[in-house]
Amino acid sequence: MSVSLDGALQVLLPPGPGEPFLRLDRAAEATVDPGSVAVRDGVIAALAADDSAAVRVDCAGAAVVPGFVDCHTHLPFAGWRAVEYEQKVTGVSYEEITRSGGGIASSARALAESSDEDLLSRSRALRAEMLRSGTTTFEAKTGYGLSRAVEERLVRLGRELGADRVTGLFAHVVPPGYDAAAWMDEVEILARETDVDALDIFVESMAFGNADLERLGALAAEVGVPLRAHVEQFNANGSVPVALDLGARSVDHLACLTPADLPRLARSECGAVLLPGAELLGDEEVAPGRALADAGAIGVLATDFNPGTSPVQSLPLIIGIAVRRYGWTAREALIAATLNAAHVLDLAAERGSIEVGKRADLVVLDGPIEHVAYRFGHNPVAAVVEGGELVWVRPDQEWRVTR
Ligand code: NIG
Ligand code: FE
Repeated sequence: MSVSLDGALQVLLPPGPGEPFLRLDRAAEATVDPGSVAVRDGVIAALAADDSAAVRVDCAGAAVVPGFVDCHTHLPFAGWRAVEYEQKVTGVSYEEITRSGGGIASSARALAESSDEDLLSRSRALRAEMLRSGTTTFEAKTGYGLSRAVEERLVRLGRELGADRVTGLFAHVVPPGYDAAAWMDEVEILARETDVDALDIFVESMAFGNADLERLGALAAEVGVPLRAHVEQFNANGSVPVALDLGARSVDHLACLTPADLPRLARSECGAVLLPGAELLGDEEVAPGRALADAGAIGVLATDFNPGTSPVQSLPLIIGIAVRRYGWTAREALIAATLNAAHVLDLAAERGSIEVGKRADLVVLDGPIEHVAYRFGHNPVAAVVEGGELVWVRPDQEWRVTR
């Protein structure tokens, strides 16, 4: 298919070709000038209109940005946990909910009760909803299995769902009947025997410790996949220097980041993945997003889409929260949810920015980029091009399209 996105008010372009990521202190170097984008054979063919394209999209008043990259989701999962949300807003802590058998354990029970078909059809519907809010690349994590057999099942289902990356979050919580060290023995077997793109761990008082993080880091190096880690979500556990020593690809959450750890994180090539949906809905601390950006961190935004802490699939909504609570510009937030997120997934060479030759994953917004955060709660996505195909047009935006 050939598609021409014509006459946009703004096209978000990186400062130059081949940037592997953009540290947020350089985000202002990304440009948002008027322009057009032509797509052919699945890739971006030119930063100009193509008069011979089979599909033309009138981008008057619109912005063209890279397809959003959601580098941190907990798909596939079964069932929602709205009861827990009500407990949380009325004063019960996440730790208390977890200790009384809720939390991750309740998602594990729901998962054990659902068939592959159920899980896949529910997850596909959620994935379709993500696409309608502009997500063209997403990561899926295991983690609700709590047994070797079900974690293996989740790796397989993540692939069947079509996730662009499948992360083994085998060390999520310690399953009943194990202590952390004994479960890490099982994690070792899983890491060696399953085909995952990265390994992840939840370091927190009710889950795993820094010693387990060190063990996972060694394991990731041994099997040759990137290390990622959920750290400093509810408490400061001193996990960031440990993760950096291990060469982690990302540290995720950071609501309780120790200020002294910030400069080293900001200078590293480790993505600082902020999850403002979990922060807001869990009434967590707020990560030091502005300070990370000013210090030149590879700031990243993701949904953390999961039934417990962040039942939010929309990256535009996440961008809206980030802009308000971190004090980020629209450009900073968009770079964080595209190119820098692709860096975390090791996909930045082919995705995450509008460059000739990259995969044609593009979002047409129904207004300027600043409106994504400003019109909070409005879905700004008018149309989505994924892998060179026009895969979604919002019904009220059909007037833009000529086929
Ligand atoms: O990223 N923090 C650990 N894992 C998830 C929550 C999982 C759950 O509560 O189901 C998170 O917030
Ligand atoms: Fe998470």
